[in-house]
Amino acid sequence: MLSNEAILYYANHPVEFVQDILKAAPDPEQKKILQSLVANQMTSVRSGHGIGKSAVEAWSVIWFMCTHPYPKIPCTAPTQHQLFDILWAEISKWKRNNKILDSELIWTKEKLYMKGHAEEWFAVARTASTPDALQGFHAEHMLYIIDEASGVEDKIFEPVLGALSTPGAKLLMCGNPTQLSGFFYDSHNKNREQYSTFHIDGRNSTRVSQEFVQTIINMYGEDSDVFRVRVAGDFPLVEDDIYIPLPLVEKSIATEYFPRRHPQIIHIGCDVARFGTDKTVIGYRTDEKVQFFKKRVGQDTMKTADDIVSLGMLLVYQYR
Ligand SMILES: Nc1ncnc2c1ncn2[C@@H]1O[C@H](COP(=O)(O)OP(=O)(O)OP(=O)(O)O)[C@@H](O)[C@H]1O
Ligand SMILES: [Mg+2]
Repeated sequence: MLSNEAILYYANHPVEFVQDILKAAPDPEQKKILQSLVANQMTSVRSGHGIGKSAVEAWSVIWFMCTHPYPKIPCTAPTQHQLFDILWAEISKWKRNNKILDSELIWTKEKLYMKGHAEEWFAVARTASTPDALQGFHAEHMLYIIDEASGVEDKIFEPVLGALSTPGAKLLMCGNPTQLSGFFYDSHNKNREQYSTFHIDGRNSTRVSQEFVQTIINMYGEDSDVFRVRVAGDFPLVEDDIYIPLPLVEKSIATEYFPRRHPQIIHIGCDVARFGTDKTVIGYRTDEKVQFFKKRVGQDTMKTADDIVSLGMLLVYQYR
């Protein structure tokens, strides 16, 4: 493990820690983000895809674990996939096979802890689908890591704000800027003086391939919201002539659906077309999930009413 002298040095030099200990080569933007954690309490990063945000977060977790006594590092992201398959896997990737760290830092499915101190010296993965994900952590040295922060609900952030009133607590949040409101949006807009903020355009990152940029341009155009969010790292504009704006689509993708035995909401919807080339479409919603039931061309309204009754009975039978 590291000597006391090394720990004191690396506590203020995360870039050198990442280079010397994790054997990684952060690019200039990643270096600035790491250094920001030393100088600032709150750091917020918005960018397009693939510039290396989750890697910086993973490095930050390992750095903080190794250079602060008895730290607690709650980590979260909007979905299980983003949290476990991406962020948590990224921590494992950079710690794995590291001769200096492997015997001391223990990585498990949900926790990274210092050997012998599993209850007091750890980073933990908490999914943001439960409101109390980041609640109840107390320690002199706290680091909150929030990945894909645009998709995290404001209520998840509330306990973080409380904790940040103490000087030893820090926050690093990163994401593609998909939503036009909320904690992450505010950190780059009306509250930006309180943060150390970074905006990284994918076109300026060596990590982002030219093919990816060109594919998005070919598919959506350079003035599209998809290009803005996924490549340029800018918040969407949401023009008036767009029927379903991108933030709604993104929010839908980030919503996890856990079926309940007895759903709280069941709605049936029908777009009636009758005759012509248009389709009659019947769909239904159970809690967060919307599904199609039938699509029919040239169907008279009595048959459509019949279909809706059948669907109603089916749902009553299914959830009784
Ligand atoms: N400096 C680096 N050296 C080597 N590999 C890196 C570096 N930075 C990032 N990577 C790797 O590049 C890949 C993409 O990076 P990462 O997932 O961190 O990007 P991201 O900005 O989080 O992307 P997204 O916007 O999709 O969430 C990952 O496999 C990561 O480990
Ligand atoms: Mg990422």
